[in-house]
Amino acid sequence: MLEINNLEVTVLKNPQLYNAIFHRKSIRKYNMTPLPADTLGKLQEYASSVKPLDESIRYEFVYLGSADVKNLLPIKAPHYICLYSQIKGNYLMNAGFLLQQIDLYLSANNLASCWLGMAKPSKEVPKQINGLEFVIMLAFGNTTEPIYRANTSEFMRKSLSEISSVAGADSMLESVRLAPSSSNTQPWIF
Ligand SMILES: Cc1cc2nc3c(=O)[nH]c(=O)nc-3n(C[C@H](O)[C@H](O)[C@H](O)COP(=O)(O)O)c2cc1C
Repeated sequence: MLEINNLEVTVLKNPQLYNAIFHRKSIRKYNMTPLPADTLGKLQEYASSVKPLDESIRYEFVYLGSADVKNLLPIKAPHYICLYSQIKGNYLMNAGFLLQQIDLYLSANNLASCWLGMAKPSKEVPKQINGLEFVIMLAFGNTTEPIYRANTSEFMRKSLSEISSVAGADSMLESVRLAPSSSNTQPWIF
């Protein structure tokens, strides 16, 4: 059983991030022009303030450009944010918790993003940084595609009744129902 009190202090209390849950989508075509330095600076500042699910797991964000990433799928972006983490306990859940805050921040700031489970830092980028291992990355940048869904009917997701038998928590579980997952597998049951 995990305590998710940090969720309260991060996303639920920030109306822009909370709203992004209901409109965000993955974008796989990017304008390759790098983002302005101040946009990247603000993202880095936000990234340094995100809350982990488990404060005992050390992690770092590493920012890479398109030349530094190898992806089997033809998705190229001007920027990538990589999560490096200590490998212990629920580090994968912690990774999802941390990078999804970044995904919502990007969406709330009119930037396109996509989780990339298939991509890896190139050979030139160290596999380990300060004893932390690369876990996963998000691609991000500008796009000419629409980055928002008009409403939740545009999300391809299981219904709440398929994933939950919990009574009285519909509005909280609705945000979980809409969360992104690898290949849209939605592997959660409540
Ligand atoms: C852990 C994780 C890994 C993912 N890996 C990839 C990937 O390698 N390539 C890709 O195109 N999309 C990837 N995605 C994006 C999912 O395919 C996408 O979130 C899902 O299809 C739902 O679509 P949406 O994000 O537009 O709502 C990944 C998502 C997650 C959460």
